[in-house]
Amino acid sequence: MKLTVVGAGAVGASCAEYIAIKDFAAEVVILDIKEGFAEGKAMDLMQTASLNGFDTKIVGSTNDYSKTAGSDVAIITSGIPRKPGMTREELIGINAGIVKSVTENLVKHSPDVIIIVVSNPMDTMTYLAHKTSGLPKNRIIGMGGALDSARFKYRIAEALDCPSSDVDGMVIGGHSDVGMVPLIDKAVRNSVAVSEFLSEDRMKQIVEDTKVGGATLTGLLGTSAWYAPGAAVSELVKAIGLDSKKMFPCSAMLDGEYGLNDICIGVPCVLGANGIEKIVEIDLSDAEKAKMIESAAGVSKTNGLLHL
Ligand code: LAC
Repeated sequence: MKLTVVGAGAVGASCAEYIAIKDFAAEVVILDIKEGFAEGKAMDLMQTASLNGFDTKIVGSTNDYSKTAGSDVAIITSGIPRKPGMTREELIGINAGIVKSVTENLVKHSPDVIIIVVSNPMDTMTYLAHKTSGLPKNRIIGMGGALDSARFKYRIAEALDCPSSDVDGMVIGGHSDVGMVPLIDKAVRNSVAVSEFLSEDRMKQIVEDTKVGGATLTGLLGTSAWYAPGAAVSELVKAIGLDSKKMFPCSAMLDGEYGLNDICIGVPCVLGANGIEKIVEIDLSDAEKAKMIESAAGVSKTNGLLHL
């Protein structure tokens, strides 16, 4: 498969690196507006090929979208990242213009592309990519839930003092500090509810730590995180490339699912060769439903700031 990563910043480069290391794609084109930057990242990554043992070809381009032609999947990471103290929503002014023009350019050269949106505020940028591209809704995927769920599992594993591989859990809802809905009552360690091991207070703490997962890292790093975002993207792309029908929470355009319409927000999705092949409606408790509705109201408010 051929992939494009738009934006050669830390997140874009991390996406390309993890995708290459997992060695399932034929070609990755990295594109950036900064002269020579994507070419440099591509060359540096290609020089790891013999060390890391991958055959994926990585090509860099300074804003030449003709190089992206025929991409099966394109990942949009471009735009500005948040600085400490900022919310993802505050980035909308600059990032909306960027995501709109990137989407138009991608679709012009790859009319059948599947787009994965990473730029923030992610759910609103996914909605914008949907409205701009005119692509069927299964071909626009927002990456947030896979990352937030990884952070959730990290926090649960920390509390249980066990490896993350023992833990399973999911975060749905909006990819924002207030909007995330970590499904703590459904989280398990080897199929045993985590509530068997942890107090109510500890579980509440995990939920709060998960919701501010990105903000915590922004505070520590001075900019947005990149390793886990890149790894999460690579897993989504792999599920599409290998048509594996794996389930991830992704921001998807809803058409009545979860009682919501005309909104992109995190819900469990089965990913395969056609992108989002199924939106899975799981039973939510009344408390989880209420949180989901509140989260959707927040995303809708941010969507209202778009000039569509
Ligand atoms: C984060 C960014 C990618 O949560 O939204 O780290």
